This record gives sequence, C-alpha cells and structure tokens, in this order.
Amino acid sequence: MTSEPRPRSISVTAGFWEHLPFDVRGEAFRTDPYPFYETLRAAGPVARLPDGVLVVTGYHEGLAVLGDPRFGLGGGALESASFLLVDPPEHRRRRTRVSGPFSAHAVERLRPAVRHRTAALVRAAAAKGETDVLADLAVPLALELICALVGVPLEDRPRWYGALPALSLGFVPDGLRDEEATARLTAARLDFARYLGALVAERRGAPRDDLVSALLSPGPDGTVLTDRQIVTALGQLVVAGYEPTVHQVTNGLYALLRHPRELARLRADPSCGPAVVEEVMRFDPVIHLITRIALQDADIGGRRVPAGTVVGVLPGAANRDPEVFPDPHRLDVTRPPQHLSFGWGEHFCLGARLVRVQAEALLTALAQCRPVLTGEPVRHRSLVLMRGVERLPVVLTERPGDED
Ligand code: HEM
Repeated sequence: MTSEPRPRSISVTAGFWEHLPFDVRGEAFRTDPYPFYETLRAAGPVARLPDGVLVVTGYHEGLAVLGDPRFGLGGGALESASFLLVDPPEHRRRRTRVSGPFSAHAVERLRPAVRHRTAALVRAAAAKGETDVLADLAVPLALELICALVGVPLEDRPRWYGALPALSLGFVPDGLRDEEATARLTAARLDFARYLGALVAERRGAPRDDLVSALLSPGPDGTVLTDRQIVTALGQLVVAGYEPTVHQVTNGLYALLRHPRELARLRADPSCGPAVVEEVMRFDPVIHLITRIALQDADIGGRRVPAGTVVGVLPGAANRDPEVFPDPHRLDVTRPPQHLSFGWGEHFCLGARLVRVQAEALLTALAQCRPVLTGEPVRHRSLVLMRGVERLPVVLTERPGDED
C-alpha cells in the first residue's frame, strides 16, 4: 500500500469488510451476495462482529443509523481531501454549494432531453444487432449527463476519459486494492485533478453559466472555496455520478431480463417506469456497504452503542428484510417503493433524481424493444462491494418507434 494521506473519515471505517464472516472478494459473493446476507441476518437485524463492530441487515435499523446525527463519518476535518465526506454542520454548507444542478427543478427540466438522447442511443443499439447495454447505452448516457450538469466539457474527453476506469477504483474500500491498483488510482486522481485545475483556471478567466464557474464565486455566507476544494468537488461529482449509475442501470435491466413477467409489465404500461426503477434498485443495488462511526454514545433499536463503535449498513441486506418486504427475494414491481440503495439522512445520494430520470428513460425504452440476453454477463473483477457487470450483451428484437 502507498502512504497516500487519507482523511480520517475514510480510514476510521476502512477495514470494515475484514470483519465480515465471508470473503467479499470471493467468486461466490461476487456472483450472489444475498445468501451471505441471510447468514448474517440470522444473528438479528444488528449483529456484533469480532472487535465490536456492528453490522446492520435490518431495514428500519439501517434507516435509524443513517438518519441519526450521532452516527457520522468521524472526519469533519476541514482540510479533508474529500469534499462531502465530512460531518455536519460543515457537510450541509458544502453540499448546498454543489447541489443546484441536482435539484428537483433542474433535473426535471432535463427529462425531455434525457428521453430524446435515450431514444437515439436505443435506436443505434437496435440497429447494431448484438449490443452491450453497459458500453453502448448506460455509459454514454451517464457520462454525457453528469458532464453537462457539472460543467466538464465532453469535448475535452480525450484529456480525462482514460483516467475513468482507474478512478472507479476509489469505490473499493481501502485494503481491498492491491498495490498496483492503488498506484493506478493515485495516478489517475492526479491526472484528473490536473485537468480540472486547468478547467477551473479557464473558467476564472471566462466564467460560464455552469457549476465550475458558480463554485468560483463566494457562497451565500461569503466563503470562498480554494481551488483544491473546487477540483475535489468536481472530481467527486463526476466519479460519483458516473460509475454507480452505469452499473445500477445495467443491474436493473439484468434483473428484468431474469424476470420476464416484470419486464412485460413495463412494456405493457410504461407509466410504471418509476416503480420499476425503485424495485430493481431494491432488488440489486450497486453500493453494498455504507459505514458510520458512533460520534457519541448512541443506540440502535434500543441496543446501546458506545462512542467510537464502527457500524456497517448493508443496503443489499436491508432491502431484503423480510419484516418489511414480503417475499423479499422476489422482484415485484408492484410493491411500494422503498430501499436503502441511495443511503439515507444527511448523506442521502445527491444524484438520486438524476439516476431515476436516466434509469426510467432507459429501462422503459428498452422494454419496448423486447431485449433478449445473448450471453451471461461477467461480474466485474476490480470493484469490490460495488456490484455490477463488465458487459451485458443483448439483442433488441424489436425496433423502437421513431416518435421521439
Ligand atoms: C444509481 C446510482 C447511484 C447510487 C446507487 C448512489 C448511491 C449513493 C449512496 C448509497 C450514497 C450515500 C453514501 C453514504 O451515506 O456514505 C450516495 C451519496 C452520494 N451520491 Fe450517489 N449514487 C448514485 C448516483 C449518483 C449520481 C448520479 C450522483 C451525481 C452527482 C451522485 C452523487 C452523490 C454524492 C455527491 C453523494 C454524497 C452526498 C453527501 O455526502 O451529502 N450519486 N450515493
């Protein structure tokens, strides 16, 4: 491992996965983590693991931890390299600075353009014969959108696109990356930061109506962000907005392909798109671990939790809590929408609305084209505790309509 400086917020909860009584890197977990979660659940919705760390498999208990300010990220250091992984009150201030493009109003305005672009991508994919949902559809859609929202010009892509695969390794908890991967991640972060630094300098000279320029102005409370903070925020937004979205949309289609009745429901009634998105996110989320630390003595569901206790919430387990979800291992798009896949509380995913708009557009459009799987997808190898596939090959057996 390198001695790259880490914000305390990350290091404090970093080794959590080591306490889990199964190998999160193993082929079996990668293929199907859900039976492993059931073995944990047998010890109750909140189980104590060796060394006193707690693991949460219950839905209400997960909500309770993520919604409780007594549990935080434990950093809070203003010099933290991470822009949003800090505790309140600093967190709220920083989050507000970047949240404009992700507001309900801003994202809603994008909906027609997202549908239009999705339709064009799906038409091209249908014309291709076999198409890879990940590379041909999910990637371009997610990348174009996040770049447009953050203000990173897509035409600069040759200057940063090569860094993206290595940047995604930042989602792998510390200790789960080998030295080579950590070195690649560090180099990619430097490259991307260098590009973003140049972009910030460019916008300072010639501001535009974009987030990069907005971050250069003083905030509502008069504070001015340093260039490093701006670069960190932009980099995190691009990476957070890209990688999980691509995998979530692909996981969602894969779930529907394995449940043809649910796929047929969406085809017959596109208005159930939003419900389908929530259910596939419940059924097979991308982010499989959210960690917190008790900042003071606290409790979860009546159980005393001393300050300093590390707690891991497993959204994939909470989403299948039988106390909340009847027949939890069944994909059922008619159930009430509920899941922890975007987290909860202070750090609830900033991009949730954006994901919902994209996923709805893409899944609804694909359902119309009767997609058929042409090979088994391969689970990606480099990402751990983030669930996704390397490719999802399908044939779209019907051409989409041209109305869009
Ligand atoms: C399907 C795709 C996505 C999933 C499953 C997802 C999931 C999550 C989860 C679970 C968290 C909470 C982390 C925690 O509590 O420690 C989170 C936070 C966050 N997400 Fe997402 N996310 C997705 C897409 C996006 C997109 C498109 C953006 C666009 C900017 C984004 C930006 C963020 C940011 C900035 C945070 C941190 C928020 C904060 O600390 O206040 N995410 N996301």
